[in-house]
Amino acid sequence: MCGIVGYVGRQKAAAIMLEGLKRLEYRGYDSAGLAVLQGDGITLVKSIGRVAALAKLASSRKLSGTCGISHTRWATHGGVTDANAHPHVSSDGQIALVHNGVIENYVHMKRFLLEKGYTFKSETDTEVLANLIAYHYAKQPAVNGEGSRFLEAVRKTLLHVEGTYGIAVLSPAHPGEMVAARKGSPLILGVGEHEHLIASDVSALVSRTQNVVYLKDGELVHITPAGFTLSTLDLADVSPVIDQVTWSVDEAELGEHPHFMRKEIFEQPLALENAMRGRFSADGSSANFGGLNLTPADFRTIDRFVFTSCGTGWHACLVAEHLIERFARIPVEVDYASEFRYRNAPLDRDALFFVISQSGETIDTLAALREAKRKGYKCMAICNVVGSTIAREADGGIYQHAGPEIGVASTKAFTSQLLISAMFALYVARMRDMSFADGVEYIAGLKAVPDLARRVLEQAPHIQNIALRYAKYNDFLFLGRLSLFPIALEGALKLKEISYIHAEGYPAAEMKHGPIALISDQCPSVFLVPKGELFNKVLSSMQEIKARKGLIIAIVPENLELPEGLADEVITIPDCHEAALPILATIPVQLLSYYIAVARGCDVDKPRNLAKSVTVE
Ligand code: AGP
Repeated sequence: MCGIVGYVGRQKAAAIMLEGLKRLEYRGYDSAGLAVLQGDGITLVKSIGRVAALAKLASSRKLSGTCGISHTRWATHGGVTDANAHPHVSSDGQIALVHNGVIENYVHMKRFLLEKGYTFKSETDTEVLANLIAYHYAKQPAVNGEGSRFLEAVRKTLLHVEGTYGIAVLSPAHPGEMVAARKGSPLILGVGEHEHLIASDVSALVSRTQNVVYLKDGELVHITPAGFTLSTLDLADVSPVIDQVTWSVDEAELGEHPHFMRKEIFEQPLALENAMRGRFSADGSSANFGGLNLTPADFRTIDRFVFTSCGTGWHACLVAEHLIERFARIPVEVDYASEFRYRNAPLDRDALFFVISQSGETIDTLAALREAKRKGYKCMAICNVVGSTIAREADGGIYQHAGPEIGVASTKAFTSQLLISAMFALYVARMRDMSFADGVEYIAGLKAVPDLARRVLEQAPHIQNIALRYAKYNDFLFLGRLSLFPIALEGALKLKEISYIHAEGYPAAEMKHGPIALISDQCPSVFLVPKGELFNKVLSSMQEIKARKGLIIAIVPENLELPEGLADEVITIPDCHEAALPILATIPVQLLSYYIAVARGCDVDKPRNLAKSVTVE
């Protein structure tokens, strides 16, 4: 939710920030803006719409300043207007600020500031911060030099703030300086040669530096071209840890693909290989996870796993539940992170928590992790973004190594979460009753997945043709059973979020308990057909749909034959190990949603109303 880029150095800030903002657009794209310090004041450019609109506007202005802040917005407080776009400038013109997060007590602070004579141009909570910093700055005597006065005004303001923030602040009285701080919203400092950057995500920094400092909650940083100092809100100095970003800027480029979603769907074989690399035991019968920080003896005491997440990650949790219970026979509970944090659920004494998050910044998932830890439970994270808040706050975890995922609709991160869940199920199953031979066979099944995924991707033209025929429908059902039920949910979510088509996912047999009322020749059903004992049961569900003139797209393992004429369209997936089936079955529903959205002219990578990382409640 919202992206921030700030620059302090020797180059023109505007061009650098605009490039960074383009990479952060997935975080919000309602409006964008930038401010640079030049002459004696602040030059402000803002526009509703995308970063491209801002870039156009900026090109008509003389922006030579070498110190600036910028923002791409996902609206929370106040509609999508130029006035509500960031940066916001205090009414005395002394402070410019960009913000990602929500200030919960802004009404109270606004009243106070109005009484003090400050005025407001926007409906945002953020403008309150700009004015409050200006208020503290005006009251603040110079302490140990002017730079400290600026820092101190920001610090004093933040002591009064309830809510979440990542902020970057400028003052024309302090050219060549920036103050940034975070609580609950990500913020990363890029350490370059005679320049420093601040951003919500490393993708906005990597073209200039690979040396980064991940700010922690409650930290402030004072930045100049020559250096930076890190401290906490209670004035303690912090020794910075400089990390190296391991991926390059090319990985966040579109390359030959028209959309990031397509690129990321086609990157899945590689992402799956990366998820497995170095993670099988030497005897070839189990998995290894160095980052869990738990011994096999620790695992023996665990009698339940609790998995929480949001959105697509929650679907991965459901697959993890199925695989762990099926292969390791350990009970698993799955909860929406947003519910878990408030539900005060009774928990088993020896439960182990897992959160799943691509970004590692989703606020509900982070809150669930903190709640579990507060109750004294160990909490593990399956996370893609290295150094993210969830990855850092978890007691241990498994990095996905899927590479940057830019498309708002999660694709490669999801299948990588499924593969890691399958490996984790193997890991705990081998500590219980799974035999050596079954472990070896299971691993062979997982190792085959990247190549099998390539074979599914070869069907993209076939799936595109189906999508062209079905793009006209406005309602879809997705139906699956057992481990394919979460894939039905995921298929419905993908279609909803990028093509705005109403879609629902159900366990196939539940269909006759209500959703069958939707069936007509205007509501196609996508069936995820299992092999094994439920194959015939699912065929019966398909017959029930056909009897009501429903259209059927069937995703079927290649060695199974459907009765002639039962399905209108068939997409096959290669025969595979049971633990790999949800992964391979996901790819067709991703491609189907993608091509339908493209056929309907939707903005696939930036669907309306959505942002990739939901860092506000
Ligand atoms: C996925 O397509 C969605 N955009 C969304 O549901 C996402 O999975 C959810 O917001 C969780 O994000 P996270 O994995 O980064 O925590």
